[in-house]
Amino acid sequence: MKASPDLADGTGGALADPPGLVLARDCSGRPLHHGGRLRAAASHYGLALDQWLDLSTGINPNGWPVPPVPASAWARLPEDEDGLEQAARAYYGAAHLLPVAGSQAAIQALPRLRAPGRVGVLSPGYAEHAAAWRAAGHAVGALAAGEVDQAIPACDVLVLIHPNNPTGVRFPRERLLHWHAQLAARGGWLVIDEAFMDTTPDQSLCGLAARPGLIVLRSLGKFFGLAGARVGFVCAQPDLLARLARLLGPWTLSAPARWVAQAVLRDQDWRERERPRLIAAGERLAALLRRQGLTPQGGCALFQWVPSPQARDLHQALARQGILTRLFEDPASLRLGLPGTEADWTRLETALTRVVAEVLPQAAANLAEARA
Ligand SMILES: Cc1ncc(COP(=O)(O)O)c(C=O)c1O
Repeated sequence: MKASPDLADGTGGALADPPGLVLARDCSGRPLHHGGRLRAAASHYGLALDQWLDLSTGINPNGWPVPPVPASAWARLPEDEDGLEQAARAYYGAAHLLPVAGSQAAIQALPRLRAPGRVGVLSPGYAEHAAAWRAAGHAVGALAAGEVDQAIPACDVLVLIHPNNPTGVRFPRERLLHWHAQLAARGGWLVIDEAFMDTTPDQSLCGLAARPGLIVLRSLGKFFGLAGARVGFVCAQPDLLARLARLLGPWTLSAPARWVAQAVLRDQDWRERERPRLIAAGERLAALLRRQGLTPQGGCALFQWVPSPQARDLHQALARQGILTRLFEDPASLRLGLPGTEADWTRLETALTRVVAEVLPQAAANLAEARA
């Protein structure tokens, strides 16, 4: 287990510690970085906004085509009994859930529903989890995927991103349930962030989230490509959801967001067409990167993860070509999302050929020799 002093790039820290939970209370207050900051990149690299290919997020570039929102949705206050919860329960297979303004809203609020305790968070991983638990006064320790078993006895709460962002790590269902049982037996929580689970719904634990101490987060931002709508769901026991709802207050989702969310969740045809398409696109991206000698070490349908000591140079060289990727410092790595059009795929491959030759000349020479 590692303390996590630096979460500024979605990574854990580097302090080696004995098994068990290390109490890290770093409240440096530094802002966390996220993908999708195209305006900042445009101004930094001096390239107009419309010249960029943004691969810095794991958002579906060909998301659900949103129809016009009825005028009444803008004019009236949002209402709980509009059918959204029912549509979401059917899609996620969850007995109880609460819509929230993006899963981020729940990530920030959940830590405030427990007295300060010891929290293990998967690392590297989406850094907002560790930051939120720390901000609420909990002692947070960063866990590598292989350290979870050992650390559970010292945790009150375990937070997993499943599949993990950015590494793509997944755990067998039996392991997850074993960890949950250990935590729940002493009033602990297993929080599972399933933001990237929609292409593999059979691996979701939403259907079991009525069990005490199991909390599953879902997002409409990734698979459905509706990140701007700010809609997520928390699947958990009713009493916990009631406490969370009280903390968040009324009207957390706008009525247009509720309308769009309900419509997308009822569109079974679209998601059945989209799942195999996205899985194939993820494989295509992995193959493209392998062809360039940048073999991904993990990922999922919506992104691929490429550790490399030259990650920063690759990131900058790609940015100079107008391609924005997500850079992680520790471990040094890049995450690339899916290109949306055939022209984008070609642009990525062409840029990578140039960038690899510039940043990794030896690797480029080896590739050229292997191809000859
Ligand atoms: C793993 C993970 N969970 C949750 C979120 C937040 O998603 P949203 O608030 O859009 O539902 C993100 C955003 O990037 C993420 O990567």
